[in-house]
Amino acid sequence: MKVIESDILVIGSGIGGLFFSSKAAATGTINIITKAAIDESNTKLAQGGIACVNNDHDNFESHINDTLLAGAGYCNKEAVELMVTQAPGLIQELIEIGVKFSTEKNELNLGKEGGHSHHRIVHSTDITGSVIEQALIKNVALSDTIQTYEYFIAVKLVVEDSCCCGAIALDLKNDEYVFFKSRATVLASGGGGQAYLHTTNPLVACGDGYAIASEAGVAIADMEFVQFHPTIFHHENANGFLISEALRGAGAELVLPNGQPFMQNYHTMGSLAPRDIVSRAIYAEMKKLNLSHLFLDARSVSPTTIKEHFPNINETCLASGIDMQYHLIPVSPAAHFICGGAATDLDGCTSLRQLYAIGEVACTGVHGANRLASNSLLEGLVFAHQVSEHLKKYILNYKYSVLLPEFQMIQKRKSPFDELTIRSLRRSIQTIMWEKAGIVRTEVGMMEGKQKLHPIGIQIQQLLADIKMDRELIELKSIFITAELILNAAIKRKTNLGTHYVEPFNTIPFTDYSPLAKSELSKVKEMTANTSMPKYFYASSAFQKTYNTRHVS
Ligand code: SIN
Repeated sequence: MKVIESDILVIGSGIGGLFFSSKAAATGTINIITKAAIDESNTKLAQGGIACVNNDHDNFESHINDTLLAGAGYCNKEAVELMVTQAPGLIQELIEIGVKFSTEKNELNLGKEGGHSHHRIVHSTDITGSVIEQALIKNVALSDTIQTYEYFIAVKLVVEDSCCCGAIALDLKNDEYVFFKSRATVLASGGGGQAYLHTTNPLVACGDGYAIASEAGVAIADMEFVQFHPTIFHHENANGFLISEALRGAGAELVLPNGQPFMQNYHTMGSLAPRDIVSRAIYAEMKKLNLSHLFLDARSVSPTTIKEHFPNINETCLASGIDMQYHLIPVSPAAHFICGGAATDLDGCTSLRQLYAIGEVACTGVHGANRLASNSLLEGLVFAHQVSEHLKKYILNYKYSVLLPEFQMIQKRKSPFDELTIRSLRRSIQTIMWEKAGIVRTEVGMMEGKQKLHPIGIQIQQLLADIKMDRELIELKSIFITAELILNAAIKRKTNLGTHYVEPFNTIPFTDYSPLAKSELSKVKEMTANTSMPKYFYASSAFQKTYNTRHVS
């Protein structure tokens, strides 16, 4: 097998992987592998922006409290404090790298989103993620210590003497396996929304990182907390297109088909309540009225605001015949973000030595049971910074692999029949997850989901044993493992918390979080105090402190 060596291997090219690489470029040589074109990621699709305290009307305490409250009291407070206080400095770094954020009178223009008590979303109109991604790609390309490998998909982490020594990847263009050998490996492969039938995530978001990490025995936590975004454009051509919460921040309201607002019946913050509450409220109203969607009324938002801040959403709606100045926008919820992932400490270290995780693939504890809007790009930046600082100190202590890993290569190519099977299994998993592990879950439904996944797992094993791996087959395996991790964690959790909502567990789903959060938090602590760590669990004391109250699989 071909071997390509660097000090650091980065898997993934969203905000976490690219920002980390720019920051660590002086620490050592870096290889970035990414399974499609470099800009194919969830980052590119992010609309809203980055939450950051940026003026005298706002303060860190408020951003911290909003995050803890949205997270249903389940966040790691220390991690949240770290994230919130680092935000202004990291936004400044992005500006220095060349990111152009929207401004007004020479100040950053700050948007508002669900669960935030202040305007604090730094953005580039409604295409923030894409603007950041492009600037980071340019920056990384300038560095002579960073090499990027597009269309290389990681299939396995290489573990030697309980240390991660890189990964085996499939070179999708040349159809050969390559061992990317490294001292440190940084998992920055994004989320796994493709495990669900309806999702805002792009086709690449298959949970590849969760899959290879869990196969390597890395501790994975909090996978039951899947966030559903309330407002996806409900249109046959829309393909999971998001109508940013920022539009609600600018005055748009969720309404019933008769134009009646309804969110005040569910939460004092109305249409700008935390996301899990809004999604469940929409779900409840849709069910009551037997509808496939509700509406967003943006007719009160001024044409200038729409033109200046929401040009992309406006164009997409217009292309489907919806002029938001005059028409209601049809919307429904879809899977958006997985709060759980490879458990890390505050330095981004996972349970496996020499392996770090950044961004959605990680579970740093900042999101708790429900992520606050626009904290995801921020988490990516903050932990990219943490990992680069940690590596500066420790990279030379890390060792290279001394062995050439063995990897069985199967020569038989898939037939058209296999292709159909793979596609249909992918669809079956997505349907099971949507129906059995969705916005509102039941205990019976989750058990049924698990039972239905079982034979699919056996079929996937068979395919893996019989035919040559390719992107579709690897993604199918990733989606399956992600689905299993979510369902297993969801079945284990016997209380409603944040995005994990099981009927008829008796919690108050639609009221303010504050009293709920307090009582839930103490229940969770009691229930999980004795969760034992897997035997391979290697961790710093900060890591142990973070995870000794969580469900780890
Ligand atoms: C949005 O713009 O509504 C999404 C932002 C986020 O997911 O944080």
